[in-house]
Amino acid sequence: MARKKIIAGNWKMNMTPSETVSLIETLKPLVKNDEVDVVFCVPAIDIIPAMEAAKGTNINIGAENMYFEEKGAFTGEISPDMLVDAGVKYVIIGHSERREYFAETDETVNRKVLKAFEHGLTPIICCGESLTQREQGITIDWIRQQIKIAFLNVSAAQAEEAVIAYEPIWAIGTGKVATTGQAQEVCRAIRDCIGELYGAGTAEKIRIQYGGSVSASSAPELFAQPDIDGGLVGGASLKPDFGQIVNYKTAKQQ
Ligand code: PGA
Repeated sequence: MARKKIIAGNWKMNMTPSETVSLIETLKPLVKNDEVDVVFCVPAIDIIPAMEAAKGTNINIGAENMYFEEKGAFTGEISPDMLVDAGVKYVIIGHSERREYFAETDETVNRKVLKAFEHGLTPIICCGESLTQREQGITIDWIRQQIKIAFLNVSAAQAEEAVIAYEPIWAIGTGKVATTGQAQEVCRAIRDCIGELYGAGTAEKIRIQYGGSVSASSAPELFAQPDIDGGLVGGASLKPDFGQIVNYKTAKQQ
């Protein structure tokens, strides 16, 4: 069975609650497409207004982060129950900006992934190499290690529900999109790694996104690759372009 594409916006630290409502009003007619799963991952304070604004549409609301403890003295953190209670289904885990600026590690990513599954949330698990690592020729080794640690103690049944986002760090917010060949090669390697861990059935089911400067013009070719099941989109998810990305098949013919 063909995997359903999943196209997610990562709003990062953009949009106030009121801006969130107007952006969703603008985007909702543009992102209609039942052939793909559409997710808007928004800042925590925007989740409730986003949920309200997206009611009755095909837009799913996701979070950008979550803590791995249930509750308690963790000032500033968001718990899995808070997300679930607000109606959230997806949560980005281990984005490279969280790893770089907020000291997240493969180990904390693994704890968050396990916690997300425990609460029925679908993690969008991020991985990706730096430019130095690509130049050193260790991209695949690096990504395989990130994946293996992120999936420690994750069951096969959970793994097939997971979403992985391959985001080369050098391509994020730089306008330097990976070539389709580079993106496909790493997404294939990730699928192979999942196959080694869980078997071919799980590898065939898991969805793997590409992220890093995805635009309306690069999306059609990227998403046509056999191992790329959609995208995690930063900058372009805040603009009407996101509608073209979600409708990449028809946008291609324009
Ligand atoms: P970008 O961000 O599309 O702006 O490069 C992608 C991401 O960080 O998820």
